[in-house]
Amino acid sequence: MAEMLTLPENPLRVGLNQAKIPEPLILVIFGATGDLTQRKLVPALYQLKKERKLPPEMTIVGVARRPWTDETFREKMRQGVEEFGEGIDKEELWQSFAQGLYYCQGNIDEGESYEKLKTFLAELDEKRGTRGNRVFYLAVSPEFFPSAIKQLGAAQMLSNPLKHRLVIEKPFGKDLSSAQALNKIVQSVCKEEQVYRIDHYLGKETVQNLLVFRFANAIFEPLWNRNYIDNVQITVAETVGVEDRAGYYETAGALRDMVQNHLLQLLTLTAMEPPVGMSADSIRNEKVKVLQATHLADLKNLEYSAVRGQYKAGWIKGKPVPGYREEKGVNPFSTTPTFVALKLMIDNWRWRGVPFYLRTGKRLPKKVTEIAIQFKDVPLSIFPSAAQQTNPNVLVLRIQPNEGISLRFEAKMLGSELRTRTVEMDFSYGASFGMATQDAYHRLLLDCMLGDQTLFTRADEVEEAWRVVQPVLVAWDAPVPPESIPLYEAGTWQPLEAELLIERDGRRWRRL
Ligand code: BG6
Repeated sequence: MAEMLTLPENPLRVGLNQAKIPEPLILVIFGATGDLTQRKLVPALYQLKKERKLPPEMTIVGVARRPWTDETFREKMRQGVEEFGEGIDKEELWQSFAQGLYYCQGNIDEGESYEKLKTFLAELDEKRGTRGNRVFYLAVSPEFFPSAIKQLGAAQMLSNPLKHRLVIEKPFGKDLSSAQALNKIVQSVCKEEQVYRIDHYLGKETVQNLLVFRFANAIFEPLWNRNYIDNVQITVAETVGVEDRAGYYETAGALRDMVQNHLLQLLTLTAMEPPVGMSADSIRNEKVKVLQATHLADLKNLEYSAVRGQYKAGWIKGKPVPGYREEKGVNPFSTTPTFVALKLMIDNWRWRGVPFYLRTGKRLPKKVTEIAIQFKDVPLSIFPSAAQQTNPNVLVLRIQPNEGISLRFEAKMLGSELRTRTVEMDFSYGASFGMATQDAYHRLLLDCMLGDQTLFTRADEVEEAWRVVQPVLVAWDAPVPPESIPLYEAGTWQPLEAELLIERDGRRWRRL
């Protein structure tokens, strides 16, 4: 499909950096008045325009219920670019971008709105030369996904696999059965090659670098297995609290919001086998295999595999912050987890016996995402006096911030005594490439317009990820008294129970 919709050989459409440019198309954004559109999508699209990565015919149609005009939509999007994007430095360029922005008022639940939209898009094809190519982006609350997808199908707006694509934001379902049901709806109206399920972590450059690091270097692969690796720790820590998203977060919690998608994606890329090539399906096949082999460490005693927590009042960056139950819109007796720690095992030849510890939480002391590969200790220390001080090697892939990779190893301290110290060899993206990494949506939007599905989750992949966490969802969805949820003070790393989860195995969480 990528080949059908892109023109890789046409020199007129190849930018200076040889990057491909999508075919003329209309990007239809449902949920055009929402935060995602203003903060992320349109600023990323404008950035692509600046970089000359969009075709001149590029047209964006916002759809939502509010009675906005094209002008209001353009103005709001301008504010978005100025406030959340990289700003507007050339008025002319903005005007040329804004000319391609249109607004179509509509109700996502009503068939008539789709008929109106269809006619509007056909008119735009004439006016803008977009040749019937469409990308429909569902940037709406997940309860609208089923009806929007069915309506798009009923209006024959997804009927041409070569011209119509569908982008679905997360969360894709709220458990295994709802994800399966949603996939069935999707499959009833279009083909998998038309579907782009977003996990914005896959758009992060450092996440993509995992593939390059693992498969473009020969020296790590021989060590990348149970013979040399003791455990893997994946941390996604945030300092922010629930912000103004209590309505959504109360029904999701950290397991659905972060683990099923972002953390498991990091796990699959760390653990997958080398793909046969770089095609979307070669990579996704390997990721699915990892998920199929992944399970909670102890299904009989779930507390040995999964710990939840919720933040109570505390301090973040020197300022007092309220506890989760005191946040606006949150039930004062809420049992929703804002922290999750899991111990997972991957039953295959490469990883059998190596625990993967995952943790994520809101209101933790630092914003940091990293994957730490902890190697086994030396078989025998021949430095008796220094033995107490030696530490096993750790390879840390820093996803954000301060993106880079570091390797910790032991070195002899200077001086006549034989003493060792742990030192670090460090690669930093900023220092090596001298430029900031791009926002994930920049890459993901371009890829779906180009028809490259590599960085999007496939139907079977999303279902397998739900399957991994399903036993915990079932256990945690059962009503419990609020006092049974472990609490951690905002600004601290985790509840005591999460320390125990790993200390029981004679290991510790990395200090970050
Ligand atoms: C989103 C979650 O998917 O990811 C948010 O819904 C979370 O709760 C966010 O804050 C974190 O993303 P990032 O890119 O800031 O690590």
